[in-house]
Amino acid sequence: MVKAVIFDLDGVLVTTDELHYLAWKALADELGISQFTRQDNVRQRGVSRMASLEVVLEKADTKYSDAQKIELADRKNAIYVKSLESLSPNDLLSGVKEFIFFLKEKGIKTAVGSASKNTLMILEKTGLANEFDAISCGLDTTKSKPDPEVFLIAAQKLGLDPCECVVIEDSDAGIQAAKDGGMTAVAVGAARNHPLADYRAESIEEWDYRNSDLFM
Ligand code: BG6
Ligand code: MG
Repeated sequence: MVKAVIFDLDGVLVTTDELHYLAWKALADELGISQFTRQDNVRQRGVSRMASLEVVLEKADTKYSDAQKIELADRKNAIYVKSLESLSPNDLLSGVKEFIFFLKEKGIKTAVGSASKNTLMILEKTGLANEFDAISCGLDTTKSKPDPEVFLIAAQKLGLDPCECVVIEDSDAGIQAAKDGGMTAVAVGAARNHPLADYRAESIEEWDYRNSDLFM
């Protein structure tokens, strides 16, 4: 029996994945990198801020030093955080609240496992700050997804074995991390065709979780 569900944040609970894309696009434009596309952005899902920057810089003519890269990542984060100012509970993805309620009624614990260092701010702005039994985020980790660290920390904070946890993810890196961490992986959105996923759905809203053997 499943004892906990660990949610990825950006693109699973909230629509912030689009804001990440727009902020990286703004930085790419500032740097004169016109070839940065939404397709590139799919590879930024789930991975750390610095790993995401490398995806943008793949298409740059200039070589940047480590110090310059930190400045560029900070610049993107400033654009991103500014766009988070107007975030509200309306930016939760459809069906999220109902699913969390369903899990609580079943006595299944919930956690967040996100690479984002802005996790707490996003949870506060969307009204989810007090909804989870544990939060593991980019401030807790030293390794980025696809390393399972962020999910293993979540399981540890919940006091559970990884095999008792289900991870819900919209990134390929996150599905890999969940499986390498010994967890059940539910792939949604951009990751839904990942070959390692145990369950697949368009989104939480579209998932017939009430009839899933996971929660019987
Ligand atoms: C993940 C996003 O949730 O967080 C990535 O999918 C992002 O695209 C990563 O790079 C780090 O986010 P932040 O907010 O710390 O820059
Ligand atoms: Mg995500």
